[in-house]
Amino acid sequence: MEKREQLYEGKAKRIYRTSLDNQYWVEYKDDATAFNGEKKATITGKGELNNRITAIFFTMLKQRGIDNHFIRLLSPTEQLVRQVAIIPLEVVVRNIAAGSLAKRLGMKEGTVLPQPVVEFYYKDDALGDPLVNPSHIKVMGIASEEDLAALERLGLMVNDVLQPYLRERGILLVDFKLEFGRTPEGEILLADEISPDTCRFWDAETGEKLDKDRFRRDLGKVEEAYQEMLKRLGGEAHV
Ligand code: C5P
Repeated sequence: MEKREQLYEGKAKRIYRTSLDNQYWVEYKDDATAFNGEKKATITGKGELNNRITAIFFTMLKQRGIDNHFIRLLSPTEQLVRQVAIIPLEVVVRNIAAGSLAKRLGMKEGTVLPQPVVEFYYKDDALGDPLVNPSHIKVMGIASEEDLAALERLGLMVNDVLQPYLRERGILLVDFKLEFGRTPEGEILLADEISPDTCRFWDAETGEKLDKDRFRRDLGKVEEAYQEMLKRLGGEAHV
């Protein structure tokens, strides 16, 4: 299997074709962006940390029956994944009010929600990834009602696995964002990444933020927080 031409460069990753039809090569970058690209920085070691953390989560989810695109690590900053066409929706699942939910609904950050909240955002940089509801998704032709129900169910299943797994490691899973893709055979598959860039993780004892909010809010020690998350998950970084 060989690396071929670059297909796509996103804010945090580059995707390459491989010599195999159904596999992509993903390279995690040290670049960090926030507020739809308005804030930019390079965080040394972030690519490796997110690559390793994503690999741990996806391997664990697969073992617990939630299939996903991850195949194997290729290097500290690279992984091999199954080829999918990304569905342009961000599926956000929340357990504790924070971020845009706290702001939109006037809830105090840290309020425990009586049940998980699932939201969909339309992935479109020019529009700033707007929140969309099932009727928007239907009229825009982004996903069928059946596919949308599958995305919601999968989002909640991931939450049901991740929440206790993280709790055992002293971490509160505040919220997270998932992306899904369609395989060439038409199967919906969990894809993209699960990392401190895409989740809110709080230390269960101290409430310390161990995720990208450290970068968004200029709290400092961003790399250290990501390192701590990898450590809690039993992984090792060689940066
Ligand atoms: O900003 P907001 O509160 O809506 O974010 C909810 C969750 O989704 C957070 O964990 C955040 O890191 C993640 N997210 C993301 N990519 C985006 C927007 C949000 O990973 N474009």
